[in-house]
Amino acid sequence: MAEAFHNFIGGRWVPARSARTFKNLNPATGVALGEFPESGPEDVEAAVHAARGAMRGWQLTPAPKRGEMLFRVGHLIAARKEELARAATREMGKILVETRGDVQEGVDMAYLAAGEGRRLYGVTTPSEMPNKWAMSVRVPIGVAGVITAWNFPLAVPTWKIFPALVAGNTVVFKPSEETPEMGWHLAKLLEEAGVPAGVFNVVHGTGPGVGWPLVQHAGVDVVSFTGSNAVGTKIAVEAARLGKRVSLEMGGKNAVIVMDDADLTLAANAVAWGAFGTTGQRCTATSRVIVHERVHDELVRLVVQRAQALKLGDGLEEGVEMGPLVNARQLERVSGYMKVGADEGAKVATGGARASGAGLDQGFFFQPTVLTDVRSDMRVAQEEIFGPVVSFVRVKSLADAVEVNNGTPFGLSSSIFTGNVNAAFTAMRDLTTGIVYVNHGTTGAETHLPFGGTRGTGNGHREAGHTMLDAFTEWKSVYVDFSGKVQRAQIDNN
Ligand code: UN1
Repeated sequence: MAEAFHNFIGGRWVPARSARTFKNLNPATGVALGEFPESGPEDVEAAVHAARGAMRGWQLTPAPKRGEMLFRVGHLIAARKEELARAATREMGKILVETRGDVQEGVDMAYLAAGEGRRLYGVTTPSEMPNKWAMSVRVPIGVAGVITAWNFPLAVPTWKIFPALVAGNTVVFKPSEETPEMGWHLAKLLEEAGVPAGVFNVVHGTGPGVGWPLVQHAGVDVVSFTGSNAVGTKIAVEAARLGKRVSLEMGGKNAVIVMDDADLTLAANAVAWGAFGTTGQRCTATSRVIVHERVHDELVRLVVQRAQALKLGDGLEEGVEMGPLVNARQLERVSGYMKVGADEGAKVATGGARASGAGLDQGFFFQPTVLTDVRSDMRVAQEEIFGPVVSFVRVKSLADAVEVNNGTPFGLSSSIFTGNVNAAFTAMRDLTTGIVYVNHGTTGAETHLPFGGTRGTGNGHREAGHTMLDAFTEWKSVYVDFSGKVQRAQIDNN
């Protein structure tokens, strides 16, 4: 029987009150990896209660001490990098090289957030009155509800949980039900690092069962969500109704622009990595190539060559370069887009179907796919597919390329390959995404820079980087008057 895992509430490991469970499956083999609590609103209630109970003690813990705990978490993650990467590959499917990167991003984020414990800078400024002091300080909001997707099962939760904690919030975390084991590991690591009971809680289960009650709970002050646009929008509407802070990181339709003076081998390698890495299941995945007509055919040839050479299989096996999609639903979704593309007139240059054969039939494998003859207004050029599919759109100039890049409902990441410094700077100025790369593909954000996007990608917040505290703190302005008089601002000094 598969191992049984529990929720982590108020420092205790407990099953769902209903005793219901769900199975965590390996998407490469279909094998069950563990049983997790299928929790409900009553478990959310218990976790929020624990988080509220721990709030005061945690806020009064000096921020440098909170930071030190995160340093310890970082050390623990680093020491267990291989074990965690293997567990992530088993439950999520992407290859080991990539899950090691995912885990490393968690280490980086732990160290970055830990350092905030000794900064958490406020702003001191002169008062307009004599003998009066003025300053503004960041204060925690309260209880943070954190809801994340499965594609970066360690890194993305840490972008939210660590800044929330170092700022003095307590947290209730709902990991994706596709990758519950990483959520369980995070709780173990924080417990081991000495984070007090109730400060960090994990409740496993589905969106309707756990995520939605968490968003709605009056004891949750701020919600941070990474996932689909449809769910994020629903959360935003509910949060507005309830008057809560909400930070959203949703989809992307990221493009690589390739100009006629680009290094085509470099561009093709970057496109292949951006489009097929993580089996295309990254918010930052390259899902469009906007290519100058003069180099279009050659670039298609180079990318097709790379797509066809990729070795598919179980991400735990040596030499495998692309794992499965995460579940049957994703496989259906990606397959569905093949018909959408065909109906709109896109042509399949390679791939286009479920991958089968030795070692693949038990998993949700899809062929690395290149679509050509795609126009910018087609659905395959507008909607997030979240699979190993890249659409080629042909353009005649940089101005056209910029327009095509900016013309989607998303705005996460974009990239240009060019040897021309003027074209590069023009693109840096005119591409309206939250992240822009020059001579580098659309993935590979580093934790110490802000992460997030424009338009439908988010709601203006940025995660990690120097912006990491913004979603999880309020500003408090404090005036200290030592004049011994009633000094009327704007009146007595004018
Ligand atoms: C995501 O896909 O949600 O830049 C995060 C990147 C990674 C993070 C991706 N560092 O692709």
